[in-house]
Amino acid sequence: MLVSQAIEGRSSCRDFQAKKPARETMVRLMELTIRAPSAINLQPWQFTVVRDEEVARLSRQLQKAKTETGQGCAPDNLQPLAEKYVERKRQLSRGMGPLLEEAGVEAAGFIDQGSLNFYGAPAVVVACLDRTFKPVRAFDVGLAVGWLLLAARELGLDTCPIGLIAAYQEPMKDFLNIADNYEVLVAVALGYGNPDSPLNRLRSPRAGLEEVVRWY
Ligand SMILES: Cc1cc2nc3c(=O)[nH]c(=O)nc-3n(C[C@H](O)[C@H](O)[C@H](O)COP(=O)(O)O)c2cc1C
Repeated sequence: MLVSQAIEGRSSCRDFQAKKPARETMVRLMELTIRAPSAINLQPWQFTVVRDEEVARLSRQLQKAKTETGQGCAPDNLQPLAEKYVERKRQLSRGMGPLLEEAGVEAAGFIDQGSLNFYGAPAVVVACLDRTFKPVRAFDVGLAVGWLLLAARELGLDTCPIGLIAAYQEPMKDFLNIADNYEVLVAVALGYGNPDSPLNRLRSPRAGLEEVVRWY
């Protein structure tokens, strides 16, 4: 598979089959993930692979925590959102709406609920940053997660990044025994997408080059 095919073929999967990826596939995926570059080759990341019934147990902890905090997906903006971002959010909802309806799924709370149960994925990779470093080094972890998303394509796996779990530091760290000096940044739900699910037909648009790329 060409890298361009992996890039163009990837989209976030929000309905997974129960079928589990083989252990060797997961090992290969993580080998490819950690080939990502990092500043001074510090590799400031740690990954925790969660599989099988542990995913369901983790998900139950997160659901419980959600009933206490009510924390759902948010754009994490520090300033009011400019209109272009509001419009991109709207666009995504407009794309998702009819597919949720076709799937017979209640739209309200679908993303929050689905994110915390990893959309039924049989495997999850949790990516953390060593807090020894400034938050800017989250960039390195993000690159590695990008590698993971593309490598997963070649291995025939579907993925969905789950940023919501970053708002659930305590239950994530408690359940997975992640040391205090790590910050949980993002998880990736992994497995085989349900090919018949309308939810997996979503292809999110992108702003054009003229909007996001400047040339000098
Ligand atoms: C850092 C990050 C965090 C994300 N968090 C979530 C999440 O918590 N729940 C979810 O359903 N999707 C999440 N997504 C998926 C995005 O909604 C998705 O990437 C975006 O809408 C573009 O769609 P695509 O991945 O299909 O191209 C996240 C993606 C990224 C990169």
